[in-house]
Amino acid sequence: MKRAAVPAFALSVLYGCAWHQQSALNPGGPQAAKIDTLWWSFFWLLGVIFIIVMTVLLLTLTGRRANMEREALEVTHKASPQTESQTRRIVTGATIITILILFVLIVASVGTGKAIADLGFKKNPLTIQVTGNQWWWEIQYINGDASQTLVTANEMHIPVGRPVQILGQSQDVIHSFWVPNLHGKRDLIPSRTTNEWIEADQPGAYRGQCAEFCGLQHAHMALWVIAEPEDRFDAWMRAQLQPAASPSTQETIRGQQVFLNNACVFCHQIRGTTAGGQNAPDLTHFGSRRGIAANTVPNTKGNLAGWIVDPQSMKPGNHMATIAVNSTDLQPLVDYLESLK
Ligand code: CUA
Repeated sequence: MKRAAVPAFALSVLYGCAWHQQSALNPGGPQAAKIDTLWWSFFWLLGVIFIIVMTVLLLTLTGRRANMEREALEVTHKASPQTESQTRRIVTGATIITILILFVLIVASVGTGKAIADLGFKKNPLTIQVTGNQWWWEIQYINGDASQTLVTANEMHIPVGRPVQILGQSQDVIHSFWVPNLHGKRDLIPSRTTNEWIEADQPGAYRGQCAEFCGLQHAHMALWVIAEPEDRFDAWMRAQLQPAASPSTQETIRGQQVFLNNACVFCHQIRGTTAGGQNAPDLTHFGSRRGIAANTVPNTKGNLAGWIVDPQSMKPGNHMATIAVNSTDLQPLVDYLESLK
C-alpha cells in the first residue's frame, strides 16, 4: 500500500505542476503557446531518442553476453576487418545524425525566441511598469494623461487580446517577473529598465512569481495577472482610478482614524486621505485584491488581522513595521481596510 502511495503522490504532484493554475504547459497567450509548442517538440524528439538509445544499449548488453559465452568456448576471438569497418560506419552515422538533431533544436529554439519578440509591433498596446521590491510588486499603469495613471500592487489586470508592454524595474536587488501561463522570465534589475511583451488570449487568473532569488522571502513574492474582456477591464480601471471610498459606518470611520493616527501612513498610500507613504503597497483599493503580503495568504479579515498584529510571524524578514494596535482598534482597522473595494 505504502509502495503504491509514493508513485501515486509523485504523479499527482507532476500533474498538479503541469496542468494546475501556474504552468508553462497551460498557455493563456500567444507567447506561452509558442513556448509550449517548443517544449513539447523537445520532449517528443528527445523522448524518442532516449527510447532508441536505451533499446540499442539493451540489445548490445544481451548480445555481448552471448558473445562472451561464445568466447569462453572458442578461447580466442578476434574481430574481423569487416566487423570493424561496419562499426566505424555506424559510429560516424550516429555522430552526423546527432549533430543534425542538435542543429534542428537550435533553429527551433532561436525561431521561437524571435517569434515571441515580434508581438511588440501590434497596435494599441497597454504599458505597465512593474517594479520589484523586497518582497512585493508595484504595478503602475503608464498613461500620457497623469489622471489616468494608476498605481497598485501584487495584482495586475489586463484586457484579453491586447498586447501589454511590461517595463521592468527594481527598487533594491534583482528580481524576475514570471507568469508561466503567459510568458518566460524577465529580470528586473536596479537602475535599468527591461522590456517584455505579454498578451492573454483567454480570460483567466494567471499566477506569477518572482523567479530570481532576492532574499529571505523570495518564495513569498507572488502576483496575479487577471485577464478579462475589454469592457470588464475598463470598468476595473475606472473603479481603481477613483480615490478610496469614504468610510460609511461607525466601525469603518473609527478604523480610518486608527490607520491615519498610526505609523501606517509613513509607508502606505490611500488616495483620498492624508496617508501618502510611497515605500509600501498602495492600499487605496486593498479590499478588491486577492491576497495579502504579495499573495502569501488570501485576503480575508482573519489573515489581515494576523498580518497587522504580527507580520514577522507570517513572513519573517519582511519590511512591514509591527505597529502596536490595541485590541479594541484592530477590528475597526481591519473592517476599514477590507471596505476599500
Ligand atoms: Cu523577488 Cu525573488
